[in-house]
Amino acid sequence: MQINNKIVWITGASSGIGEALCYELVKYDCKLIISSRRTNELERVKEQCNTASSNVKILPLDLANLPHPEQIANKAINAFGKVDILINSGGITQRSMLKDTSLEVDRKIMDIDYFGTIALAKAILPHMLKNKSGHISAISSIVGRFGFPMRSAYSAAKHALHGFFESAQAEMKNTGVNFLIVVPGRVKTNVSVNAITGTGETYGKMDEGQEDGITAEECAKKIVKAISKNKKEVNIGSTDILLVYIHRYAPWLYRIIASRISAT
Ligand SMILES: NC(=O)c1ccc[n+]([C@@H]2O[C@H](COP(=O)([O-])OP(=O)(O)OC[C@H]3O[C@@H](n4cnc5c(N)ncnc54)[C@H](OP(=O)(O)O)[C@@H]3O)[C@@H](O)[C@H]2O)c1
Repeated sequence: MQINNKIVWITGASSGIGEALCYELVKYDCKLIISSRRTNELERVKEQCNTASSNVKILPLDLANLPHPEQIANKAINAFGKVDILINSGGITQRSMLKDTSLEVDRKIMDIDYFGTIALAKAILPHMLKNKSGHISAISSIVGRFGFPMRSAYSAAKHALHGFFESAQAEMKNTGVNFLIVVPGRVKTNVSVNAITGTGETYGKMDEGQEDGITAEECAKKIVKAISKNKKEVNIGSTDILLVYIHRYAPWLYRIIASRISAT
């Protein structure tokens, strides 16, 4: 898909990878609909986008509470008359052992990372099918490809996204609508700071591993490239990506590594 001049709806646009995607996409003269909960942060991102303010519309939403996703999708469509691309970057992660994690926290992470994403995907899909063209991305994680200590709920929610997106890819073949699943390793954002603990409190720390991740800008560039090439799945990161291949081709080795590496 050509990226130039497209109308792109981005969730998680107030921070990290979603924010970096906004700055990358305006370089292609895209018009943006930007979503997350914090309107003040979305205003900041809008101001920092190097484009006319009329090219960026703010659409606040809470992925944990989407009783009428079709109404939100209609608002996104009405912002510029259509939506060409939906990128679901909104999400939260976890920092807790499963024995210390309440079922409420499991459900919250599933609600935001899985149900929030698929609710918006399903709500915008009829519009894209009618246009015979469109693109929907979800930002999974390498832990959407294997389990990891302190990430039981997060890993499960990201695994669920793979099941949904791979099914969608098979069903939507030849419709003009492409589904991409993005599999990042560590990216230097506030994701660990915004993570929740087993009791649902904010973790509030920048993990060492997170600090060493690739930049959100680099990640955003690679996501845009993968969309332009109609890729179905893309791994983005540094050496951490190797674990995806180790898990696939030498699961016994992955089990040894996963039980020994630092949980954060
Ligand atoms: N950074 C990494 O190392 C990494 C690696 C693999 C995958 N990922 C995935 O990449 C995506 C983006 O993460 P990030 O690294 O950019 O983290 P981030 O800086 O913490 O950004 C997360 C974004 O999600 C939004 N969000 C969180 N809860 C929400 C809710 N209930 N409703 C609506 N929006 C919500 C936040 O906005 P508000 O607070 O304003 O709502 C924020 O814009 C996530 O899906 C994450 O799982 C990140």
